[in-house]
Amino acid sequence: MAKEYLNIINGRHVPARSGRTFENRNPADQDDLVGTFPLSDADDVNDAVEAAKAAYPGWRALPAQRRGDIMRRATELLRERKAELAEVMTREMGKVIKETRGDVQEAIDTGFYAAGESRRLWGTVAPSELPDKMTYVTRQPTGVWGLICPWNFPMAIPSWKLFPCLVCGNTAVIKPATLTPASAHAFVETLHEAGVPAGVANIVCGAGGKVGEALLNHPDIGGISFTGSSEVGRRIAEVAGRALKRCSLELGGKNAQLVLDDADLDLALEGVLWGAFGTTGQRCTATSRLIVEQGVYDRLLEMVVARAAKLKVGNGLDESVEMGPCVSDGQRSTVHGYVEVGKKEGARLALGGDRLSGGDYDRGFFYQPTVFADVRPDMRIAVEEIFGPVLSVIKVRDFKEGIRVLNGTRYGLSSSIYTRDVNRAMKAVELIEAGITYVNAPTIGAECHMPFGGVKDTGNGHREGGWTAYDIFSEPKTVYVDYSGGLQKAQIDNA
Ligand code: UN1
Repeated sequence: MAKEYLNIINGRHVPARSGRTFENRNPADQDDLVGTFPLSDADDVNDAVEAAKAAYPGWRALPAQRRGDIMRRATELLRERKAELAEVMTREMGKVIKETRGDVQEAIDTGFYAAGESRRLWGTVAPSELPDKMTYVTRQPTGVWGLICPWNFPMAIPSWKLFPCLVCGNTAVIKPATLTPASAHAFVETLHEAGVPAGVANIVCGAGGKVGEALLNHPDIGGISFTGSSEVGRRIAEVAGRALKRCSLELGGKNAQLVLDDADLDLALEGVLWGAFGTTGQRCTATSRLIVEQGVYDRLLEMVVARAAKLKVGNGLDESVEMGPCVSDGQRSTVHGYVEVGKKEGARLALGGDRLSGGDYDRGFFYQPTVFADVRPDMRIAVEEIFGPVLSVIKVRDFKEGIRVLNGTRYGLSSSIYTRDVNRAMKAVELIEAGITYVNAPTIGAECHMPFGGVKDTGNGHREGGWTAYDIFSEPKTVYVDYSGGLQKAQIDNA
């Protein structure tokens, strides 16, 4: 029997008011029903926001360290349950079991980091320009947040948002992706077991068009944190802008690994295989372009094709499998659509380019690891986000052209350069337009205690992850204390 999941509103498990539900099935095996979930709408969002609003004064009054203690307890529970949480995640999302263990680990790391940050919600003290007066800045929570999550990191990304949001003293309503609600649900359940009071962390499952929209437009939601496509992000920013709501956006990427002639090619090979085909290419940090200096282009291309051809694709619960399915049939169709576009544009299909079928492959949404060679920088497959196991390989004359091509997209999340030349590595760090640059490492694998986010159409200037997440979820309050006993007039008395 598949598990029946309910929303968690005000600490209680409740169905959607409409009574409607949706199914979540394993993308590697459509016969495997992971669970049924409430198909919620604005009525359920209203209930959840009301609960979050009522819980806010009590939660914000709790010392931050007490909030941090609860996060630590929740994280300990996640650590105990890592194996089972990873298994459910592989079943709902498809990525291989090693990676889902990594996803839960990212939530664990984020949780312990958050518990530590609860003792470090620092402000600044500055001398006043007047005598017998002091001035300092303290942090305050902002209220109720709507947290809208993607499907590719089903627990890590909800944890990036929820842990700092709660540590800062806010309350929240989280909307998990419809394709992967089970992991976010388990996360919110764990928070309750650890002692998060009713109403502080609510989860409402359902479609973006209903639940996401209702959160975005709700007058009592003061901030939205969203990870997903640039198209949806733009709409969120428009609505949030009109209502003057806070909004933090982590959007698309078209990340490149640049390999120079002097690079360690074996290292560059391992990097690009992991960056391009890990998570079936479904990371916003995935390596979607391999830009290679002409002297090593043919050799590296041959190495990549030979190794990518050998990747074992299958059900991610099998420990020996290296690449799982696409998350859904729709996603696989999008990927295949881009492959057709690439062929029409005249790129050379060097590997793959089709759905995998026959035997167990027919149970899910598998796609071949795909490599396009001789891609021109202006082709659509070189500039648009594909979110699948498709790598576009581009030849460049030299370092300068490599940087120009690397920067030639509207996105700017992650980037990577492989070279042994420290001068060119540091120049690349300076010139690459991206929120993250790796030197001699792939474009994926950001660490939870460092700022995460991108430039250009990848975001709106915020960095989730690291200490910078705490700036998103809190607001500065500037305090002046005058202990002179008289009226002192700034800018007048001290002119
Ligand atoms: C994402 O793809 O949305 O840096 C996040 C990485 C992971 C997070 C990816 N730690 O690849």
